[in-house]
Amino acid sequence: MIFSDPRIKMSEEEYRLIRDFVYSNSGISFDESAKFLLERRLYHRLEIHGLSNYKDYHRYLLYGPDKDMELNSVLDILTTNETYFYREQCQLKAFTDEVLPEIMERKKNIRIWSAGCSTGEEPYTIAMLVLDKIQRNSWDIEIFAHDISHRAIRAARHGIYSDSSFRTTEECYKNRFFEPCGDGKFKIKDEVKRLVKFGQLNLLDANRMGLLGKMDVVFCRNVIIYFDTQAKKNVIENLYNRLDEGSYLLLGHSESLINISTAFILQNLKNDIIYRKPFLSGSIDGADNIANNIKINRKVR
Ligand SMILES: C[S@@+](CC[C@H](N)C(=O)[O-])C[C@H]1O[C@@H](n2cnc3c(N)ncnc32)[C@H](O)[C@@H]1O
Repeated sequence: MIFSDPRIKMSEEEYRLIRDFVYSNSGISFDESAKFLLERRLYHRLEIHGLSNYKDYHRYLLYGPDKDMELNSVLDILTTNETYFYREQCQLKAFTDEVLPEIMERKKNIRIWSAGCSTGEEPYTIAMLVLDKIQRNSWDIEIFAHDISHRAIRAARHGIYSDSSFRTTEECYKNRFFEPCGDGKFKIKDEVKRLVKFGQLNLLDANRMGLLGKMDVVFCRNVIIYFDTQAKKNVIENLYNRLDEGSYLLLGHSESLINISTAFILQNLKNDIIYRKPFLSGSIDGADNIANNIKINRKVR
């Protein structure tokens, strides 16, 4: 990605216009200190469109002939796509050893969603765990993966990764599920790839999310960290509506629902603490209701 030296300065007013535009289209919020970052990252777009100031660029984002494509370019540039395989191992162990077996006792068709999947490392990890740990003969397990960034989804579908994606991957899994493809890179094998269905989606878009149907487990890790409180509330409510009763929500280790939602139950598992949507009939054994002031002592991963 090219981040040019910004020879055109962004005024405070232009910064507010563009920052608010990005927020309303993604939920991603930038604070007052991010003006230089936006200026540096978006300058190249002004060059491409032959524009001389950010006010005109904002107008282009609203009314330009290819405004939808331009929005995609902005989101590709401004989203943080940091991710890697087998991220947050305690949580993954809770998923394979406790969450999946519990669901498998109740259901034959299991639907898992990586919401904010970036370049694919998270959903492919889920697929590798399923292939490694689960006897799938009697169960139909579907894995869905979405991100707002088209570029990230393209990379995920491509499925080629370099060293930084493997920082916590054991060599045996790398050998089993990847094949070298030159330049020190590795390609995900088809047996993993075919388990994951990718798509572009904004987690603030409740209507399009509704088309996905109900999920049994949602991984939404390290996504809401970039949102302000209102956007967090909106996204979590949308995810709540996508979850079936008794289903699980897995957030990143630095994220919690404190001051965001009291609709979930906090369940202490052996390997981690996990949010769960209650059954309509009542609460879940062993689960503690979340009060806004509960401190979550998540295990160190
Ligand atoms: C830091 S990555 C996390 C990737 C992965 N979940 C993980 O934990 O490794 C955050 C991802 O959230 C995506 N994202 C941000 N806002 C989004 C939104 N409104 N809808 C969908 N995805 C979004 C970004 O594009 C980015 O790829």
